[in-house]
Amino acid sequence: MQSILGIETSCDETGVAVFQAGAGIVAERVYTQLDHAQYGGVVPELASRDHLRKLPGMIDEVLKAAQIAPTSLDGIAYTQGPGLAGALLVGASTAVSMAQALNIPSIGVHHMEGHLLSPLLENPDLAMPFIALLVSGGHTMLVEVSDWGVYRLLGETLDDAAGEAFDKTARLLALGFPGGPLVSALAEAGDPKRFHFPRPMLNRPGLDFSFSGLKTHTRTLIAQCDSDDYADIAAGFEAAVVDTLVQKCARALKATGHNRLVVAGGVSANRLLRATLDKRLSSQVYYPSLDLCTDNGAMIAWAGWHRRHMGTLDGTITVHPRWALDGLPPIDHRGAQAELSKHHS
Ligand code: KG4
Ligand code: ZN
Repeated sequence: MQSILGIETSCDETGVAVFQAGAGIVAERVYTQLDHAQYGGVVPELASRDHLRKLPGMIDEVLKAAQIAPTSLDGIAYTQGPGLAGALLVGASTAVSMAQALNIPSIGVHHMEGHLLSPLLENPDLAMPFIALLVSGGHTMLVEVSDWGVYRLLGETLDDAAGEAFDKTARLLALGFPGGPLVSALAEAGDPKRFHFPRPMLNRPGLDFSFSGLKTHTRTLIAQCDSDDYADIAAGFEAAVVDTLVQKCARALKATGHNRLVVAGGVSANRLLRATLDKRLSSQVYYPSLDLCTDNGAMIAWAGWHRRHMGTLDGTITVHPRWALDGLPPIDHRGAQAELSKHHS
C-alpha cells in the first residue's frame, strides 16, 4: 500500500500526516504556534525556530500512530511554497534529507494546491471542472479548475487577503490573533446592519478583490466608537467580507458556466460564509471539514500523493516563498485513479 508522509511548515502551523492509498489519512498532528499572539501577527524568525523544535518529534509521533516504519514510506511531501522562506526551509530540509536517507522521492507541494485539493479528500465524487475560492491569511483567489493540476487564475486580491483583513480587524478590536474566529464569535452578538460598510469592488466588473479600503473604513469607524459598539462593528465587517466573497463567486460561476464551487483555506471555516454561500448560490458548494480548513499536513500528504510521480531523489533543497499556482504542471492522474479504486474495492 502506497504511503506518503506530508509536512507543512509554511507559516505558523506545524503539520504532519500520513496518507495511505485506500485508507486515506491514517495519522496526523497539527501544532499551532502561540507565541505570535502577543505580537499581533506571525513573526518569521519565531516561526522557523518553533518548526525546528517541533517537527522531528511530530514526525516520530505520526509514524508511530500510523504504525508505519520510516522504511515503509514511499515518498515524503512537503510544502515548497508559497510562504515564509525560513519556515519553508525547515520543512524542505527535513523532508529532503529524510527522503535521501531512505532513498525515496521527496515531493515539493504548492501550499494553495494543498488547500484546493483538500475537499476532494472527503468528497471522492466531486468532479472537475469546478471553481475554487481560496481564502486564507495570505491569499484570496478565484481559480478555474478544469482538471487535476490545471488551474486558471480568474481573480485575486489586489492588496490584503481576506484572512489578513480579519486578522487586522481583530487587532483593532483588541481581540487577539488569529483574528478570523475571534471576530466571527464577537459578530454573533452584533447587528450587521447598524453601521454601513463598503462592499469593495462590487460596482466594477471583474473577479479581483480588494480589502484595504474596508480595513481603512473599519479603522476610522472604530476610532469613533467605544467598546460597546465592537460587536456591531465585527458583525458589519464580517457581513461585508462575506457578501463580497459570495457575489464574486456567483460572478465566476456565471462567467465560466460551471456549477460546482469548492471553498478552501482558513477563512473557509467561517460559518457565515458557508451559510451565505449555501443560501445564495444555486451551485453545489464543497468545503473541507473544519480541521482541514486551516493549515495542516493532511492536505500536503494528499496533494503529494497525487504528485508523487514528480518527486525527486536528487537531494536539492529549494523553496519558493512566492510561487504562482497557475504555472504548475498538470497532474498525470490516470494511474492514480486506477490505484485508488483498486484499493477501495
Ligand atoms: O489557511 P490558513 O490556516 O493559513 C494561511 O495559509 O494563511 O488561514 C489562516 C487565516 C487567518 O487569517 C485566520 O484569521 C483565518 O484564516 N480564519 C478565519 C476563520 N478561521 C480562520 N477567518 C474567518 N473566519 C474563521 N472562522
Ligand atoms: Zn494556508
